[in-house]
Amino acid sequence: MRNPMFVFDEKMADLVLGYCRDRLALDPVPLDYGGYAASLPGSLREVIGGLISPEGNDADRVLELFSDHLATAVISADSPRYLSFIPAAPTKASLLFDMVVSSGSLHGTSWLEAAGAVAAENQVLTFLAELAGLPEGAGGCFVSGGSAANLSALMVGRDTASLRGSTTQHPRIACTDEAHSSVGKALHVLGIEPFLVPAVDHRLRGEVLEAALSSDQPGAADVVGVAATAGTTNAGLVDDLAGVGSVARRRGLWFHVDAAYGGGALLSPAARPLFDGIELVDSLVIDPHKWLFAPYDCAALIYRQPALAKAVHTQDAAYLDVIHVALPGSVEAGDRAAGDGTAGDDAPGGDGAETDTADEPWNPTDYAYHLSRRARGLPLWFSLAVYGTDAYRDAVETVLANARAAAALISVTPYLELVREPTLSIVLFRRKGWSRGDYEAWSARLLADQIAFVTPTSWEGEPTARFALLHPDTTVDIVREIIETMA
Ligand SMILES: Cc1ncc(COP(=O)(O)O)c(C=O)c1O
Repeated sequence: MRNPMFVFDEKMADLVLGYCRDRLALDPVPLDYGGYAASLPGSLREVIGGLISPEGNDADRVLELFSDHLATAVISADSPRYLSFIPAAPTKASLLFDMVVSSGSLHGTSWLEAAGAVAAENQVLTFLAELAGLPEGAGGCFVSGGSAANLSALMVGRDTASLRGSTTQHPRIACTDEAHSSVGKALHVLGIEPFLVPAVDHRLRGEVLEAALSSDQPGAADVVGVAATAGTTNAGLVDDLAGVGSVARRRGLWFHVDAAYGGGALLSPAARPLFDGIELVDSLVIDPHKWLFAPYDCAALIYRQPALAKAVHTQDAAYLDVIHVALPGSVEAGDRAAGDGTAGDDAPGGDGAETDTADEPWNPTDYAYHLSRRARGLPLWFSLAVYGTDAYRDAVETVLANARAAAALISVTPYLELVREPTLSIVLFRRKGWSRGDYEAWSARLLADQIAFVTPTSWEGEPTARFALLHPDTTVDIVREIIETMA
């Protein structure tokens, strides 16, 4: 007798697909409640207690528990009323196709196993690389998030420093204290000390980097790379990428740009000049699960010279040899121009007569620290292909316009104070006279009343309110409704 777990169950399929259909049809998506004890119906542990048992349960009972008690205890990051941290706003097409990726068990480790998935993912990576102005031949892979991408990229920066003449035994990466917390964590994992450069008005600037590197500051001679941010998480500021990039180039340093949040704004012609210099990167991170309207978890990691990353990240084992040899009907990188690590070598869509007639094998596993991986770029690929890039540009521009309108409204509201004009889509402001405790109580009340999810931050040592806009449906009317609760 076959194990029932592997037999198609029509009733269960209808049940689960029906749930998905209903969730996708919600308009707007309800905010719901997260982990605030006050909003929970009781102990979640009790609600689901005993569910994992030798004999199992009816699918409808388990789904009902999920739907009634668990799903509602998760704040919907895709609600237009979610303005905390960095929200999400996956398109309907991307969510639907995420189900295809799941139900097809589509994975994306190697060309041998998953050429179809990898070719589509690479099409998206090429699109993003072109947006950033990277030369033909740039490529990489999708990883789970900005944190994983920063770690993988900085590992390549560290391990290839000797190719650029560094002899240090104690490599350092230059950054400011405005870099995302995951950069600090990545450096810790890699055993690298940060070389902290003072930020000027919260931004890393080329001339300040140059001065710090030329000074007798301890560690200056050990710097092998620099990590800049294009869209800081707290305030949406973009570092001086042109200045920093040219210092990095001149000094032979690895130039990494974390555009995990801000990268979506590359689509906006008006915002694009903020990113001038991004074309100089050695490695670039853009999280489509943030401002490119893809579902979790999806981060694009792109290298200017993927061969360098491949040399660092390829996992060697007898059982993996098969993914590194030439496949019939494809072009193996080794058959091409010598792999000297220059741009254009060993990359998706790289030039060369071979690519006109044959696909080039590409193993996503070779470009980050991972091995098995979900083909998490596919939901974005499907959505981009269906809606077209203009629709994406328009969605990004709507968000930018809404952020400006929110700032304008705040600046004419007497009891509020705008901290600074938004650069991208994060708006910092203060309620005159409020303490940290006031912001926290207000934030909890807003969620309890299902008006919005807005958590406070701090700015220059002062408690501050922060709106992170990312959903095109977060209109100025919603913003008005929220700020009226601060009167
Ligand atoms: C600038 C920046 N970098 C990195 C990250 C980390 O990304 P993830 O949460 O996808 O790991 C974030 C998250 O908000 C971010 O804003």
